[in-house]
Amino acid sequence: MLIAQISDTHVQLPGGLLDRNYDTAGNLERAVRHLNAFTPQPDAVLLTGDAVDAGLPAEYGRLREILSVLKAPLFVIPGNHDEREAMRRAFSDGRYLPGEGFLQYTIEDWPVRLIGLDTLIPGEHGGRLCDARRQWLAAQLDQARDRPTVIFMHHPPFRTGLTVMDAMGFEGAEALASLVRSQPQVHQVVSGHIHRPIVTRFGGTVASVCPSTAQQAALDLRPDPHLAVVMEPPAATLLWWDSTTGSLVHHLSVIGERPAHVLYDGSQWVMDNPLPPGFHA
Ligand SMILES: [Fe+2]
Ligand SMILES: [Fe+2]
Repeated sequence: MLIAQISDTHVQLPGGLLDRNYDTAGNLERAVRHLNAFTPQPDAVLLTGDAVDAGLPAEYGRLREILSVLKAPLFVIPGNHDEREAMRRAFSDGRYLPGEGFLQYTIEDWPVRLIGLDTLIPGEHGGRLCDARRQWLAAQLDQARDRPTVIFMHHPPFRTGLTVMDAMGFEGAEALASLVRSQPQVHQVVSGHIHRPIVTRFGGTVASVCPSTAQQAALDLRPDPHLAVVMEPPAATLLWWDSTTGSLVHHLSVIGERPAHVLYDGSQWVMDNPLPPGFHA
């Protein structure tokens, strides 16, 4: 099984600030082409929030149009830039979103269970896993303690060292960590929101952040609040399930229009000055 994750697509209507400066729609089109061209095909694609920038129905319409050519089944959860009801309506045909309440659900179709969490607080940029949402998650996990599971959510439940992003906050991180620690079938908790690739240990499992498909937050670990936006290469996360060992392996797949500069194509060197025999990467 191969799970792809993209995040923070921030699609706007044509002419919007992000549309003009970061080409969020065009970058999502490139991400879709990238995933469609990947061999083997992902079984599922997770879009972990900030799918659009202002939660507008028309933005979701543009988002759906771009995603309509994605070959693999798509699963969305909301971020702080999303609007819960507009997102629910926009993706209602997928039939995995609940008809009311929080946009969280479990997908049972593959060897790895996928549990999407709604960490949205309407009108705020920080996230929350309240008692109701955590209890729902605990019940879902209790239903299949023997099945490998990935939890996906928008807000990372840990501090990242990026002061401005951390200041937005996530309520319920400790309770989530203790719940996950008691459920060792959780192989990874994947999130977005930060617009950078990040990995850490969390609640006895692995927690990660997927970059945006467009603009990224500059890596700035100084304690004073400062946040720069940069066009570092966008990327998708690919989680490869190794069924022979029962391991989930995290890959970062950089999205680029140009093919990577190939030095060795698997059978021969394709560069002017090949490295000497015996060289090992
Ligand atoms: Fe975002
Ligand atoms: Fe966000």
